[in-house]
Amino acid sequence: MGTPTSSSSSWNIGFALLVLSLLYQAVHGGERCNFYKGNWISDESYPLYNTSSCPFIEKQFDCQNNGRPDKQYLKYRWQPTACNLPRFDGGDMLSRLSGKSIMFVGDSLSLNQWQSLNCMLHTGAPQANYTLRRTGELSTFTFPEYDVKVLFYRHAFLVDIISRSGMGRVLKLDSIEGAKVWSGSDVLIFNSWHWWTHTGRKQPWDYIEEGSKTYKDMDRLVAFEKGLNTWAQWVDSNVDPTKTKVFFQGVSPDHSNSSIWGEANGNRCEGETEPVGGPTYPGGADPAEAVVEKVIGKMRKAVHLLNITTLSQLRKDGHPSFYHGHGHAVMDCSHWCLAGVPDTWNQLLYAALLYN
Ligand SMILES: *[C@@H]1O[C@H](CO)[C@@H](O)[C@H](O)[C@H]1NC(C)=O
Ligand SMILES: *[C@@H]1O[C@H](CO)[C@@H](O)[C@H](O)[C@H]1NC(C)=O
Ligand SMILES: *[C@@H]1O[C@H](CO)[C@@H](O)[C@H](O)[C@H]1NC(C)=O
Ligand SMILES: *[C@@H]1O[C@H](CO)[C@@H](O)[C@H](O)[C@H]1NC(C)=O
Repeated sequence: MGTPTSSSSSWNIGFALLVLSLLYQAVHGGERCNFYKGNWISDESYPLYNTSSCPFIEKQFDCQNNGRPDKQYLKYRWQPTACNLPRFDGGDMLSRLSGKSIMFVGDSLSLNQWQSLNCMLHTGAPQANYTLRRTGELSTFTFPEYDVKVLFYRHAFLVDIISRSGMGRVLKLDSIEGAKVWSGSDVLIFNSWHWWTHTGRKQPWDYIEEGSKTYKDMDRLVAFEKGLNTWAQWVDSNVDPTKTKVFFQGVSPDHSNSSIWGEANGNRCEGETEPVGGPTYPGGADPAEAVVEKVIGKMRKAVHLLNITTLSQLRKDGHPSFYHGHGHAVMDCSHWCLAGVPDTWNQLLYAALLYN
């Protein structure tokens, strides 16, 4: 006891532990690890929940109940290359969010992620009461005992669409009145892109307006960038980062061209039962991603990009295809089955909230 030899060896052990813990931090610390680079591996402990214990799930996402015959797509876990994602703990997330509200703003891909999070939280606290209320475009899910609100505001362009007599529906690239609904939330997760691409009957506007100029149409990537800049200016001038954390849900890919993953005779996402292997999608980046990165890169306030594009591109097997519960006429290769890929988006959101 207390001999020079033993104290130096305990010092050595202490030093070794310090080095190990620094290494652990370097590898596992949220800042230093890129959670978005990795690949899908099969894991029998998945999915994180069964939709039969998620009674409020919307039919369109409940692929198993809609007759999807295969199950392997439920059993994949996202594995980052350089570290591990923390295992999702719904009870812990609810405790951390106590007294707070978290809102998804955007199109039906926000709805997809919002539904997934509600199922994940409910699974983590199955005894806790919950309420679900819809008022117009706003859906509010609450856990009263935890004093947590999880909201979804359907606002596909982030900027406004108004109707004006003599013109019809006008998409106003520099107007963002919808912010009245979302300001005051503690966590905001925005998403927009898919509706900017719609033409013909699916296009929900007749004119685009910017300042005093009106256009019948515009390059859609250019319009998207202008709209996103309006959103970025709103965040920069209105968000207090000590109160509100802002996320942007990256572009969610669809799988409408099976030649990209080497099935020249494939029919979009039909019959796909496995992800693309490895970390790289042969289709390359989505041009809308570059717009998102450019706009966020110029902002003064920190916005965390949930960089879900690549990992979702790899999941050609993750869509409802014909199992969306609304007949066989339409194939859905844009939304995602639940349980499924949006659960991983929420695991990444959870990790970002833990480490930032
Ligand atoms: C998003 O992740 C992909 C895959 O790791 C990467 O190629 C891309 O550069 C990332 N984008 C940003 C803005 O970090
Ligand atoms: C979900 O639970 C039901 C009822 O317990 C069960 O029949 C079904 O196989 C489960 N589904 C999955 C994907 O585990
Ligand atoms: C759930 O709500 C019911 C009715 O309001 C109440 O009686 C019960 O105590 C609540 N459950 C919990 C766990 O607080
Ligand atoms: C589908 O992908 C292939 C391979 O990348 C490409 O050559 C082809 O032009 C694409 N088809 C459409 C309709 O985009």
